[in-house]
Amino acid sequence: MAKCEIKCAPNGPLIVRGDLELKDAAGNPFGLGGRSQVALCRCGASENKPFCDGAHKRVGFDSTVTCSDLPPIS
Ligand code: FES
Repeated sequence: MAKCEIKCAPNGPLIVRGDLELKDAAGNPFGLGGRSQVALCRCGASENKPFCDGAHKRVGFDSTVTCSDLPPIS
């Protein structure tokens, strides 16, 4: 499986970079137009979900995250 990188933009989207295949709930792939990077909405306000359309700025989305560890799988 190819490695991808996901970066949490301050007060904004998840920037996903790599060999991408993004699918809807039915398993249908989104056409990404050859992109190797997309911005996925995490504020919930985009009119073009799952992609970010910049609405996070309009709604004043406030979320800056820093790294933490998940608990081990039990
Ligand atoms: S994160 Fe950009 S529109 Fe939601």
